[in-house]
Amino acid sequence: MMMANTIRPEPSARTGERLLDVKGLTIEIETRNGPATIVDGIDLHVDKGETLGIVGESGCGKSLTMLSMMRLLPNKIHVTKGEANFAGRDLQKMSNSELRKVRGGEVGFIFQDPMTSLNPVMRIGQQLAEPLIYHRGMSKAEARSAPVNF
Ligand SMILES: Nc1ncnc2c1ncn2[C@@H]1O[C@H](COP(=O)(O)OP(=O)(O)OP(=O)(O)O)[C@@H](O)[C@H]1O
Ligand SMILES: [Mg+2]
Repeated sequence: MMMANTIRPEPSARTGERLLDVKGLTIEIETRNGPATIVDGIDLHVDKGETLGIVGESGCGKSLTMLSMMRLLPNKIHVTKGEANFAGRDLQKMSNSELRKVRGGEVGFIFQDPMTSLNPVMRIGQQLAEPLIYHRGMSKAEARSAPVNF
């Protein structure tokens, strides 16, 4: 399978503080003929303040790579090697309750196909404010005026 390429932007906003560190991440699927490799040992890292784009042909494993980090892989698809650390913590080894705090609290996802993954009858602002209200206990007004920390 072709591997996705990572495109690293200009380092203007980088702080050098490592936020996400992925090493040798390998994802396999169980098939009738045994395991097949979908993602073959990807390495990537993101520092605080940095934006990272991952580009690759359809089906090369971009979505599964990201889903694996939040342990949201579909049935029969597993991480078999490597590690993904977020702020120094291994996401694969975290307890479910710890991971629930990370999901939506520290890591936000907008899933592929925004027409179905975003609610079309809610304003975008409301949808972006939701994690701050539920995970950080902010009021609606606080969430709306919270600084966006890209
Ligand atoms: N639930 C699933 N069951 C079986 N195979 C799957 C499943 N989800 C994804 N795959 C396979 O895993 C591979 C990687 O899929 P993935 O969705 O990560 O690709 P992608 O790079 O995000 O593609 P796209 O650019 O189309 O979004 C593909 O070959 C896909 O067919
Ligand atoms: Mg995808």
